[in-house]
Amino acid sequence: MELTAADRAAFDGRPREIDYDRRETLHYLGEYRRELPNSLNRMMENAYDWEHLPFVHPTSFADIELVEHGSWGWRCKTALPNNGGMQAVELLVDKPRHYWATTVVEGFGQGVEIHTQASENGDDGIVVSVNFYLPQPPESEAQGQMLLAALIHQYATLYDEDEALMTSRQEALDIRGKANGRKLTAGILLGASDAFAPEAASLLTVSGCRLILRHVEGNWIAHAAACPHMLGPLTSPDIADGRVTCPWHGYSFSLADGEEARSRCAALKVARVTENEAGCLVLEQDL
Ligand code: FES
Ligand SMILES: [Fe+2]
Repeated sequence: MELTAADRAAFDGRPREIDYDRRETLHYLGEYRRELPNSLNRMMENAYDWEHLPFVHPTSFADIELVEHGSWGWRCKTALPNNGGMQAVELLVDKPRHYWATTVVEGFGQGVEIHTQASENGDDGIVVSVNFYLPQPPESEAQGQMLLAALIHQYATLYDEDEALMTSRQEALDIRGKANGRKLTAGILLGASDAFAPEAASLLTVSGCRLILRHVEGNWIAHAAACPHMLGPLTSPDIADGRVTCPWHGYSFSLADGEEARSRCAALKVARVTENEAGCLVLEQDL
């Protein structure tokens, strides 16, 4: 998707701070409330993370291009699924309050604002209160009810998907924390080669570090199980053009040298693996 001058101009003159008073001028449609087992840190990180939208939420977003971002939030051009057209979308963050406001600046649903408050929920994670505002009142009570039901349905799916991502990311952070910089060094035995299916991506935990073992073009290789970008799971058995693609932001890593296709993050650590005389797989390089 290309960004044009008009895509950028859609945001001209807009402030970078949430104008809380504006809510008074909008029609309040209703709320979606959700308890999540995640932390406020993971939730705020998720709000800032524009790049995951089409990958983690494919039923709501088909594509995204960044116009600008910062500690204040982000502005993007997004494509809706099923050729549903383009939108200019802005998300402004009030970080100290754990509050963010998403506005459809242009395109389908123009003027809709979605205000979200995340709060601690005792010892059990957080609760998010998602509040939907329309630029004008709906034509009828029934239309408003239908719209609210559709939004609640959509947001339930979005938060199911985000809960899975945030939980998996926290697990990966905890594993990395426990590994405490420990590396797998060349010479480590990974197990008998006939214990691993060549068509699979086998997840192994060795000395507290997780790695993936694959058979690629006749050779065994190993790579880190967590994506070098934000620790997404690189566990898919699917390889295309010698690359593995992360499900969280679509970064794609060469299994030959680990480089990301567009150099968007550090390279993935990839190591050669050989089979010794006893039929055991041996890591040939540090990982
Ligand atoms: S975590 Fe972002 S692309 Fe993998
Ligand atoms: Fe999300």
